Amino acid sequence: MLAPVPLSPDVLSTPEGIANPYPAYRAFQGPNPVRYLRLPAGPLTGRTEPLYAWALLRHADVLAAIRDPATFSSQTPTVFKTMPKFALLHDDPPHHTHLRRLVSKAFSPQRIASLSEWIGRLANELLDTAGKGSVELMSAYAVPLPMRVIAGMLGVPDEDYPSFKLWSEAVIGYAGMSAEERGRKMQEMMGYLARIIAARRAQPAEDLISALVQAEVEGAALSDTEIRSFAAVLLVAGNETTTNLIGNMMALLADRPELWRRAREDRSLVDPIIEEVLRYESPVQRFPRVTAKPVKIGDVEIGAGEIVDIVYGAANRDPAVFEDPDSFRPERPTNSQHLGFGLGTHFCLGAPLARLEARITLNAFLERIPELGRGEGAAVRQGAAPVSLGYKSLPLVLG
Ligand code: HEM
Repeated sequence: MLAPVPLSPDVLSTPEGIANPYPAYRAFQGPNPVRYLRLPAGPLTGRTEPLYAWALLRHADVLAAIRDPATFSSQTPTVFKTMPKFALLHDDPPHHTHLRRLVSKAFSPQRIASLSEWIGRLANELLDTAGKGSVELMSAYAVPLPMRVIAGMLGVPDEDYPSFKLWSEAVIGYAGMSAEERGRKMQEMMGYLARIIAARRAQPAEDLISALVQAEVEGAALSDTEIRSFAAVLLVAGNETTTNLIGNMMALLADRPELWRRAREDRSLVDPIIEEVLRYESPVQRFPRVTAKPVKIGDVEIGAGEIVDIVYGAANRDPAVFEDPDSFRPERPTNSQHLGFGLGTHFCLGAPLARLEARITLNAFLERIPELGRGEGAAVRQGAAPVSLGYKSLPLVLG
């Protein structure tokens, strides 16, 4: 069970509120949007003033905002000075439309589906190493699998995985790191990617970076800067998120032995379980926009240039859309309406890959592990990266 936290809007910026934001969401389902402290002032963020933001917690408000990029712009690095600009995630149409068309070619559903066998091999290798009995799931499986998948797709060497993890944390987990350290890690990552891109320009291979180097739409190719920033997005967006989907899923199932037994016998439950995890414990809890012009939401007038947080995690527990939202029910009829991958312009490019990794994982565990349970020692949630909901460590017993 997640521990209760004291309630004030600012709790969403504390380690406790990041580890378990749900009591706060419930308390703020009333008048919306809610003003809250997003980033405190100080050396961690490089800001001298605290940054307040508006949180959109209702499914309907979230949907309206993500469908209106002309009002809710993704160009948030203009406000978060320590945040690097990432391709796609931080672009608005029409540039976003052009870029997305270019990269979707290199990231097509067929390309993803063709990875099944290889990902299945990686999953089984990790399970062989983990063995039976007590296992810390995050380090043994949930962290390495997505990292090896994305590194393999980008065509970068095995021995570089540990740096990827550090770079991803530098981008996502601002709270545990100074602005200087973060900047240094970011530069390291960009320098590394620049070297890989130069190597693929000289000698193309069968990987995503080579495909990006060669991608062309209407005669236009991607610049080196665009490829670098796109590869960085994949490294970061493809790692932490999928790690948390796998961790959250296995923890929820370890607490539901009856569901585990049923899913072993009836694999048609696999996809509904994954979708319900995406709704019930959304790995991406919130994502910011900045208002490009004044807008009125409910009774609240929001000026131009303000940060508005799209709180996917709260929208996915909105009782107006999901009956009995705080219970985990894979067979609920409305779970396809979850917004765990966003929607509209910025709908997650990696959704088919994340779903594939989760499906392969769950099937492999169901196949090999008759009984799943919690292990000795407490599971620890991360409390540093407000974007994410996930575990730092998750002891399980693979019976
Ligand atoms: C469970 C795993 C994942 C979750 C929950 C997730 C969630 C999301 C969400 C909520 C957004 C929208 C952000 C916004 O509102 O602006 C997004 C965008 C994105 N995701 Fe994912 N993601 C996951 C895995 C991945 C993977 C595996 C990749 C790539 C390998 C990826 C690449 C991207 C990219 C490139 C975007 C930006 C798309 C755009 O702006 O057009 N994601 N993701």
